[in-house]
Amino acid sequence: MVSAPLIFFSLLFLGFSWHTSKALEPFACDPKDEVTRNLPFCQAKLPIEDRVKDLIGRLTLSEKVGLLVNNAAAVSRLGLDGYEWWSEALHGVSNVGPGTKFGAGFPGATSFPQVITTAASFNTTLWEAIGRVVSDEARAMYNGGMGGLTYWSPNVNIFRDPRWGRGQETPGEDPLVVGTYAANYVRGLQGNDGERLKVAACCKHFTAYDLDNWNGVDRFHFNAKVSKQDIEDTFDVPFRMCVKEGKVASVMCSYNQVNGIPTCADPNLLRRTVRNEWGLNGYIVSDCDSVGVYYDKQHYTSTPEEAAADAIKAGLDLDCGPFLGIHTEDAVKRGLVSEADINGALFNTLTVQMRLGMFDGEPSVQPYGNLGPKDVCTPAHQGLALEAARQGIVLLNNHGPTLPLSTRRYRTIAIIGPNANVTVTMIGNYAGVACGYITPLQGMGSYARTIYQQGCADVSCVSDQRFGGAINAASQADATILVMGLDQSMEAEFRDRAGLLLPGRQQELVSKVAMASKGPTILVLMSGGPIDVSFAMNDPKISAILWAGYPGQSGGAAIADVLFGTTNPGGKLPMTWYPQDYITNLPMTEMAMRSSRSKGYPGRTYRFYKGKVVYPFGHGLSYTIFVHTIASAPTMISVTLDGHRRGSGNTTISGKAIRVTHTRCNRLSLGIEVDVKNVGSKDGTDTLLVYSKPPAGHWVPHKQLVAFEKVHVAAGTQQRVKINIHVCKYLSVVDRSGIRRIPMGEHSLHIGNVMHPVSLQPLVLGVIKT
Ligand SMILES: *[C@@H]1O[C@H](CO)[C@@H](O)[C@H](O)[C@H]1NC(C)=O
Ligand SMILES: *[C@@H]1O[C@H](CO)[C@@H](O)[C@H](O)[C@H]1NC(C)=O
Ligand SMILES: *[C@@H]1O[C@H](CO)[C@@H](O)[C@H](O)[C@H]1NC(C)=O
Repeated sequence: MVSAPLIFFSLLFLGFSWHTSKALEPFACDPKDEVTRNLPFCQAKLPIEDRVKDLIGRLTLSEKVGLLVNNAAAVSRLGLDGYEWWSEALHGVSNVGPGTKFGAGFPGATSFPQVITTAASFNTTLWEAIGRVVSDEARAMYNGGMGGLTYWSPNVNIFRDPRWGRGQETPGEDPLVVGTYAANYVRGLQGNDGERLKVAACCKHFTAYDLDNWNGVDRFHFNAKVSKQDIEDTFDVPFRMCVKEGKVASVMCSYNQVNGIPTCADPNLLRRTVRNEWGLNGYIVSDCDSVGVYYDKQHYTSTPEEAAADAIKAGLDLDCGPFLGIHTEDAVKRGLVSEADINGALFNTLTVQMRLGMFDGEPSVQPYGNLGPKDVCTPAHQGLALEAARQGIVLLNNHGPTLPLSTRRYRTIAIIGPNANVTVTMIGNYAGVACGYITPLQGMGSYARTIYQQGCADVSCVSDQRFGGAINAASQADATILVMGLDQSMEAEFRDRAGLLLPGRQQELVSKVAMASKGPTILVLMSGGPIDVSFAMNDPKISAILWAGYPGQSGGAAIADVLFGTTNPGGKLPMTWYPQDYITNLPMTEMAMRSSRSKGYPGRTYRFYKGKVVYPFGHGLSYTIFVHTIASAPTMISVTLDGHRRGSGNTTISGKAIRVTHTRCNRLSLGIEVDVKNVGSKDGTDTLLVYSKPPAGHWVPHKQLVAFEKVHVAAGTQQRVKINIHVCKYLSVVDRSGIRRIPMGEHSLHIGNVMHPVSLQPLVLGVIKT
């Protein structure tokens, strides 16, 4: 999100100081200000809509334009302070945006695992709970004058290509998982207080943005060519769920173009889809400087005034960057955009500020006004960060089984690798300053005596100079744990990977250490994206493999808890782990989700790619064994056709698939009950993934996730899990024209190892005309 000119711009124009922590002055409507306190926009009892209109009516054009940018100017005449809109809270309050700083009473904030790790928990309760903690800490920092109230998180782009440097920020590759994560995290951040917002979240980057810098193509110049079909059933899904189910207060458009139009200048995407069709109650913000980018770098318009006018007319309300502040007034004067359009944009941003309570006077007497430094990095918050890491760690392999390790048998552990004693690596990108860290070495130290060797100087591992010490350590210890993988030098914003293998000579180190180990060797991987570790799966000396993602501030403790069995792992991969040869001849720029045999195109994600994998989406082992049986489920479901549509030729039924909009299926749901039995000897948590395989057709996915549920089951007991599948939303597929249809006929539900067929049949009510 950061672009160099913008940092300069932000520093230069930040008109107020965040650097000291003192009681926060009111942003506007100071009760001590006799000029403004009686104005209608300051009356908390009036409807927000009326207050916003009153305020807009008092602003001059140039004052309005000053409010169109992230570092909104003060309007001192009306008692409004400047406001920095740009703050980030992807997985903890972050200082990536200029609106939030650490220091003075707030040295750090709870740093949760990176999102890809938290997603692996498949636990919607956890996702919302994290959002609640983050917004408590954000409000506390706001009250201390150190943070903003508008957070440009979460990132809900689909993890479409395994090389993407920002895949770590996302909840993975499945639209339902990403959308469900979005709705829950946003609810946690924004609170459930009706119209009032705790903080305002933002789902980004709309849309089809999932390439940063690959093979000479960067996000500032990329034109994503996307079919209507893929937009409707892949790229739009998380954003739609974020807006409609999460009720998010903001959506961010992206840098790239979609089918030749910059997303921030596309009225079809912003005004028609997000605003009108999905009913966004909030503001649309640009990615940082993306309006400037489509003018300067994409040369989308011939004058800067046209670029500014296009953005506002398309439905953009706020520019992260200086561009609209500089060019909008001239655009109005030239008649390219009307003042009414500007008012429309301000209506959306000011409404959010009012919902946040920013026009309600003294912050200290408002809801959340009591939160302060004592509410940040609390033991409970840090405990949840540890818990999230435990729930997100995925056990990939466990031969023997070797894990969990017993402390009696394994008293001395060699812990080896460039990530074996890391701190900031564990929190990934878009992080802040953590409250503290527990590294893997420290975590292991509470279970056993450790011998630590780095093996490689860093993850790039260009030299074998340190191999000798590592091999020596492994030959002496009762067990060897290698903590390998990636960090932000390998995958990050503006840094896509070139390949999927472990970098440099890491693989060689792993194999040599495993060969020399006296006891079992366990490979622990830290990474956001998938790694092709086929070599390790095929090495009989490597007993177990664990993926920790970027496990957050206490990740090292969570890894140790899993290895020694204090925690029984229940995480599942939220993305496919492809073999290295998957990306040979697969340009990252090729957006199509579906495979094409004639083009030799493999397709993307478990929904469309059928080739070899290293580990499939949804893979993850436990220390116990779960058995699933279906307790009840229908075998037939009638889909009622909308009476008005009957006889309307074949627009309704095409290829035996009914248009969703032509059915009465709003509340049509498929209820199943599944018994999950723990037949092993350890208590554990099962992640029940329910897939549907639609009747065969040219354009349907092989299978798609239609529900998931997490359940704790004590050893030797069983739990009955009820699952309701919304038929229209989840059993539908999208045809080539982007129309959602429900295929009639047999859908096969896959739950664990159980399959259950359900037949969908059309039902026409009333008399059928012939
Ligand atoms: C491990 O990392 C911690 C935290 O950075 C550091 O204090 C400690 O010295 C490191 N241990 C070793 C053995 O290098
Ligand atoms: C419409 O499609 C259905 C199912 O494919 C077919 O049975 C029917 O004859 C078609 N009707 C018309 C009017 O083409
Ligand atoms: C989901 O996470 C919450 C919060 O950590 C936890 O209380 C709950 O037990 C988890 N659910 C399951 C089934 O593990």
